[in-house]
Amino acid sequence: MKVLRVFAVLSALCAGLVLLSQAATLGGQATDLKEQMQKRIDSMGVLLTGLAIDDWSRIEEGAQGLIDTCEAVDWSGPGKELFKKRDEAFCSAAQVLLKHVKEKDLADIQRAFIQTTITCWGCHDLPAAK
Ligand code: HEC
Repeated sequence: MKVLRVFAVLSALCAGLVLLSQAATLGGQATDLKEQMQKRIDSMGVLLTGLAIDDWSRIEEGAQGLIDTCEAVDWSGPGKELFKKRDEAFCSAAQVLLKHVKEKDLADIQRAFIQTTITCWGCHDLPAAK
């Protein structure tokens, strides 16, 4: 269990760094999108802090923060359908994450956390997001 936690923490840290260094750009999007993305990376950080030090209020705050961004983002511009689809993958991964958080199941939370991180790349890897 300890090993799994260290793994989750490390992989999430790496994910965060890569996401930040890849500052994606997409023409025509409102700066509001950037704000929501900042909230996503912040929420991942809060969640990760919670996981690292067993602080359930931060774990829940982070997971809820991710969900909040789903409602706030309104995709527009070219490629909008594809972005919407990729964002649905992220949002449903985040919903699963929140569900496990409410159940306080640590092993499932760690798996869902990594799964959610993978959906960030699922969209950031799109050529249009670079
Ligand atoms: C459906 C697509 C999509 C998903 C899913 C997605 N992003 Fe983004 N992200 C974008 C796009 C597009 C931009 C570029 C925004 C811009 O520059 O206007 C971006 C930019 C960012 C930025 C840079 C913001 C800035 O200030 O320049 C960060 C950080 C970020 N995303 C984090 C995340 C994290 C963390 C996740 C997952 C928890 C995530 N994103 C999931 C599409 C997505």
